[in-house]
Amino acid sequence: MIKGKIENTFASLENISKSFGKINALNNVNIDIEKNKITAIVGDNGSGKSTLIKILSGSLKPDSGNIYIDGENYKYLTPKLAHEKGISTVYQDLSLDNYRDVSGNIFLGRELTKYGFILDYERMEDETETLLKDLDIHIPYFKTPVGYLSGGQRQSVAIARAIFQGKNLIIFDEPTAAMGVKETKATNELIKSLPDRGFTVLVISHDMHQVLHLADRIFIMEHGEIIDNVSKTNITVMDLMERISNGS
Ligand SMILES: Nc1ncnc2c1ncn2[C@@H]1O[C@H](COP(=O)(O)OP(=O)(O)O)[C@@H](O)[C@H]1O
Ligand SMILES: [Mg+2]
Repeated sequence: MIKGKIENTFASLENISKSFGKINALNNVNIDIEKNKITAIVGDNGSGKSTLIKILSGSLKPDSGNIYIDGENYKYLTPKLAHEKGISTVYQDLSLDNYRDVSGNIFLGRELTKYGFILDYERMEDETETLLKDLDIHIPYFKTPVGYLSGGQRQSVAIARAIFQGKNLIIFDEPTAAMGVKETKATNELIKSLPDRGFTVLVISHDMHQVLHLADRIFIMEHGEIIDNVSKTNITVMDLMERISNGS
């Protein structure tokens, strides 16, 4: 039975390994990401979480193993292929262009043109306005370069872009790491709404309260391996914290 062929799985990693020189960042990792659900990966610093999502977003090639996307088998993905498969990622550093305004960032790399060559600012701004309204994101200074926005607002722009440019799977690497309480709450609600909007979600987080609030299934990583996976109904915040601190 091939893992990736399971009806309700959007993506699977099967026996994925990746080394950097002598460091085994990932060692025979198996993970299934269920369609229209929120899956979380938790684990101590250096356990391999970011490496795993870079493989899923096509920015790193695994040394061995298989990747299944929508039932199709790949040895590795490229950023272009990941995009074609509707996978988008909100990285820890957000990868925003601080000199561009909100719509400049939402359409970054996928700008709309008119007559085939003139940038259609009006249409990009209109669509951005509709998108933010849809997502209930409030940014008062819409045309300001995003470098001037608050951490939470910048995070919202990065998430809005991932939703806009992705179709199927949205991956978050520590989505609320640098946020205040109010911003964290708004971001959590936005992430939680994504399955209803037709998305599958993979989230990496240090915040166990956030993980339990959001995720349907939680994978626990330690030294490059998945040591367990639990359904959220079977575990408490204390259990989770203990599982992770025992690992190091
Ligand atoms: N580009 C790289 N070159 C060398 N070592 C790396 C590289 N990326 C990650 N590592 C190492 O691989 C391990 C896993 O890193 P990472 O996936 O970033 O962990 P996490 O995101 O869980 O903190 C760590 O030991 C890290 O130092
Ligand atoms: Mg990381």
